[in-house]
Amino acid sequence: MSDPYIQELFAERIGGNQYGKSTAIYKFEKIKRAKKAAREAKPDIDLIDMGVGEPDEMAFPIVVEALQSEAAKPENRGYADNGGEDFKEAAAKYMAEVFGVSDIDPKTDVLHSIGSKTALNMIPACFINPGDYVLMTVPGYPVLGTHAKYYGGEVYNMPLTAENVFLPDLKSVPSDVLAKAKILVLNYPNNPTGASATLRFFEEAVAFAKANDLIIVQDAAYASLIFEGAPVSIFQVPGAKDVAIELHSLSKSYNMTGWRIGFVVGNPLIVKAYGDMKDNSDSGQFLAIQKAGAVALANPKITEEIAAKYSRRMDLLVDALRQNGFEATKPKGSFFLYVAAPKSATIDGETTEFASGEAFSQWLITNELISTVPWDDCGSFVRFSVTFAAKGEEAEKAIAAEIGARLSKYAFSF
Ligand SMILES: Cc1ncc(COP(=O)(O)O)c(C=O)c1O
Repeated sequence: MSDPYIQELFAERIGGNQYGKSTAIYKFEKIKRAKKAAREAKPDIDLIDMGVGEPDEMAFPIVVEALQSEAAKPENRGYADNGGEDFKEAAAKYMAEVFGVSDIDPKTDVLHSIGSKTALNMIPACFINPGDYVLMTVPGYPVLGTHAKYYGGEVYNMPLTAENVFLPDLKSVPSDVLAKAKILVLNYPNNPTGASATLRFFEEAVAFAKANDLIIVQDAAYASLIFEGAPVSIFQVPGAKDVAIELHSLSKSYNMTGWRIGFVVGNPLIVKAYGDMKDNSDSGQFLAIQKAGAVALANPKITEEIAAKYSRRMDLLVDALRQNGFEATKPKGSFFLYVAAPKSATIDGETTEFASGEAFSQWLITNELISTVPWDDCGSFVRFSVTFAAKGEEAEKAIAAEIGARLSKYAFSF
């Protein structure tokens, strides 16, 4: 039991005195419950989990071994604060090697993050006063916008649609919003659409930012997980460093989600402000993790190997879905396949209609034990993540065949 006055103390930003009383169930909780119910109802059928946005495998042995040896060294034991020179240097070299971006000064243009999520929540603290706007894309990863609202800011959502190849239409932002906007948030390759940005789009974004006094935060969590073409960084655009930062993460590109390590790179003044906010929020990531992270960054072949696995799985999944009438197109990177949900499924003369991506996703878990994540912000879609658990190519093929077989019992309409 808590004293009743505690209920009266909560800040408005988390619901004030109504905090914790809502009975609304959020998307990811609904998925969790549906998975549990499906497992209990059909214990003999394997659940195929395409919902989780997390790698199914461990970090590579050289990285784990580096952590083991660094963890044993006394000089790594203390607060790292904003230090970790090896990691900063490794990040600058990584930007040059993977993206051809060679003007990154490790002393002023790079600072580690305890995962990109923490950087996304600190940037608004540096820029957002009440009434200021951030421009974000939907569907998307909402963390920066959530924190902007905590500071009294507003979020303007730019829809990502297939017609515009899942890039925002920057010209459509109303001028009164633009006048109050400070941050343009981009995320390519994109979660959840899997779309990649072209260099031309980044050029347009940089020009737009300069014309409208914005900074750009490009969330590059999937930037090096590429199936086609070369990895793209916004800093390949001349002059981008005048206005932009990029957030890189080892979570997905090195199978290191739980390690909590990434870096913020780009405009030195923005990096400095992030560093000040960070200094007042955390005391830095463990130096042994930073040093192991530096070993990872020095070995981008690891990411290429991981990307090759996802690419292979993506081909199998796209085939299985297309054979069942879904309009699935392999993305150029990330591990997400974003497909329009069907309108209905028919079996033995009985038709189930789906009013939303969520309705289809719930049906798919309940009836066929295939877990996906629905997105209904701009049309009815579901996201398949090729991070499903499978050891080796034969197991991957078997899972894709099983998905195809489970779906082939139905006639879908789109
Ligand atoms: C677009 C995007 N940004 C950031 C993150 C967070 O990554 P990190 O593990 O580096 O905090 C995720 C994780 O799912 C993501 O999808």
